[in-house]
Amino acid sequence: MLKIDTLHQYYGGSHILRGLSFEAKVGEVTCLLGRNGVGKTTLLRCLMGLVPTRDGSIEWEGQPITTLKPQQRVHAGIAYVPQGREIFPRLTVEENLLMGLSRFSAREAR
Ligand SMILES: Nc1ncnc2c1ncn2[C@@H]1O[C@H](COP(=O)(O)OP(=O)(O)O)[C@@H](O)[C@H]1O
Ligand SMILES: [Mg+2]
Repeated sequence: MLKIDTLHQYYGGSHILRGLSFEAKVGEVTCLLGRNGVGKTTLLRCLMGLVPTRDGSIEWEGQPITTLKPQQRVHAGIAYVPQGREIFPRLTVEENLLMGLSRFSAREAR
């Protein structure tokens, strides 16, 4: 479903993601763990196209998406539920999580 190969990302001269590779398969739940500042949010923003990828590839359902814009990735079926002040403060936790499914019809989202 999602395949990351030798992904590199930088903020200016800071090399944050260093040759990251992994695969997330259909029917599995993939968890990303790591101490503060290790690059978890950076990876998610990279997968969503919110920060550019310097090198490496991201494949979604067998297609390269590394150069797609965020809205094109949403159209392809990828969603990102952000953290901190990027959430909708008037919505509940559940409603914020459900925003990730907003591209789909109620039937598809079930
Ligand atoms: N916008 C930014 N500009 C420069 N450096 C950043 C920026 N965002 C995060 N960083 C740095 O990138 C590293 C990874 O951060 P982040 O992805 O937020 O880690 P995590 O989510 O695992 O806590 C940290 O060293 C952080 O200081
Ligand atoms: Mg984070």
